[in-house]
Amino acid sequence: MCGIVGYTGKLQAQPFLLQGLAALEYRGYDSAGIEVLSPDGSLHGVKCQGRVATLTQRCQTANLVGTSGIAHTRWATHGAPSDRNAHPHVDCSGRIAIVHNGIIENFRELRAQLIASGHEFKSETDSEVIAHLIEDSWNGPAKGDLLEAVRIAVSRCEGSWALAVLCADAPGQVVCARRRSPLVIATTPDGCYAASDITALAGKAKSVIQLDDGQLAVLNPQGTCSVFDEDGNLVAEPTTMTIDWDASAATLGGYPDFMAKEIAEQPEAIRRLLKDRLGKHGIELDELTMTDEELASIDKVYVVACGTSYHVGLITRDFIENWAKVPVVVEQASELNYKQSVLVTDHTLCVIITQSGETADTLTAARRLRGLGCKVFAITNVLGSTAARESDGTLYIKAGPEVCVCSTKAYTAQMVGAAFLALRLALAKGKMTQAEIEKKYHQLEEVPGLIEKVLGRSWQDKEASRVFRRAHSSLFLGRGVNSTTAAEGALKLKEISYLHAEAYAAGEMKHGPIALLEPGFPVVAIVPQDHVHDKTISNIQECIARGATVVGVATDGDEDVAPLCSNVLWIPPVPDEFLVPLVAVVHLQMLARYVALDRGYDVDKPRNLAKSVTVE
Ligand code: F6R
Repeated sequence: MCGIVGYTGKLQAQPFLLQGLAALEYRGYDSAGIEVLSPDGSLHGVKCQGRVATLTQRCQTANLVGTSGIAHTRWATHGAPSDRNAHPHVDCSGRIAIVHNGIIENFRELRAQLIASGHEFKSETDSEVIAHLIEDSWNGPAKGDLLEAVRIAVSRCEGSWALAVLCADAPGQVVCARRRSPLVIATTPDGCYAASDITALAGKAKSVIQLDDGQLAVLNPQGTCSVFDEDGNLVAEPTTMTIDWDASAATLGGYPDFMAKEIAEQPEAIRRLLKDRLGKHGIELDELTMTDEELASIDKVYVVACGTSYHVGLITRDFIENWAKVPVVVEQASELNYKQSVLVTDHTLCVIITQSGETADTLTAARRLRGLGCKVFAITNVLGSTAARESDGTLYIKAGPEVCVCSTKAYTAQMVGAAFLALRLALAKGKMTQAEIEKKYHQLEEVPGLIEKVLGRSWQDKEASRVFRRAHSSLFLGRGVNSTTAAEGALKLKEISYLHAEAYAAGEMKHGPIALLEPGFPVVAIVPQDHVHDKTISNIQECIARGATVVGVATDGDEDVAPLCSNVLWIPPVPDEFLVPLVAVVHLQMLARYVALDRGYDVDKPRNLAKSVTVE
């Protein structure tokens, strides 16, 4: 949450800063701001509530000239979204400006101390204390050394930060610092670029420096960057990472929005992930970094994740329990973190699932489980993310940058990653034979083609979206693995169309939610040809008896479903019922998108949300 960028070099700073903010806007879009060091030696900036597009318009008249600067796009935590609370924040002298992603947990105490010593605050944010702390150390012990001033300032802070600092009295320098919030730096002949993540640096460099926790960096206009530890010692070999995707991966490429693009990319993402996985261990999963003996000894799996990734966690449980016969506990990370007791065995594997690899709740949960002695295996999309760096093993799902705030292609690719883990465990534990695993792998290979068929039926979702036109609420029903598909469909719908949607296990509906039903109430029922098909049909009947309008997700040729539904979203037959969620969800992603578009909403940037949730 919140995106920061910085630049110092030969070029004008403003174009990159605005373009970088646009690329990072999925991290928050409550307000945006920019600060540039002008040739006259003073800082000039523009900031405003709203989107980067509004800031960009304002910048056209502001004429910000200068070759070093910082900028920010905000997801509000402390202080309402407003011009006043927009970053950058400046110190009392107006000569030091900062942008911050994270939370300064002790800001109240620091703010009181700073006010008592004469500082004047202009915003309600936690971040502003940093500017004043730097001012204090700049004028005090740091004696005009910006790196030292920042180092001393952050040593007084508790919480998390990715920070970029610009100072009118240290021309040309941008100083960065990181603790728990990501920050990457590209050094190029044109100068140095800093950003919250590599999406903003696409096309600038083939590899980037990744600051580690506690590190600081001085960016110079000559394109050099020095990294320091929290004690101020030079780090001889900072961590670097190669950018393995090209800039076009983060552009629309002819699609109307990123959601449409990312939904369409699912078959390719899964094909990429499946490539070269079959081998003597059934599924080759070297990323697990565990021997057969270690895998065979696993007697419990703890899966932690949030949101859509949590739904992948629920499917992971189905895969592992059914294929590897190992008991699985799935927890929402934010719940696990504050549970009084977390029960693990000596051989519990912790699996974290996180598209961004930066979700604060998930990282905290993983640290807790690691502290209890568990090995941590991460399934993530982002190379070099904190989740990857802090885990014993990491499977990259290689879905490419997911720019739309709501997750689509990462959901299906993460499910495939979870299937790899379950099958690898199944072989190591002797619960499936090599031949059975090969069969499952070949079934997985069919999935991209099946998704392509569903993508070709998007007109069915468009037509079904009309059912939701006058709705105030809706119910999503499914059984077994598809109770999770229902949960994911409901989450997609509510997050981008702002229409309330509740997901329920179909058989459980009669114990309460059935009271919601009235004539015209929309119910989405996932009812593929599986072993609970007839039971779900009965639940659909119960909805119809109360006047509900049912949209079914059903298997081609199912003559029981069509007469019951106002619309059917047809899926082709799927070779294994455990794999249906990978195919059926694609209809629900498209349905949610059409409902949101019908209501006139921006599907890529739903209100109040941010893609990378780096606060607890
Ligand atoms: C929903 C969505 C969120 C994320 C959640 C976890 O469409 O995108 O619910 O799934 O914030 O994010 P990651 O997977 O990055 O940990």
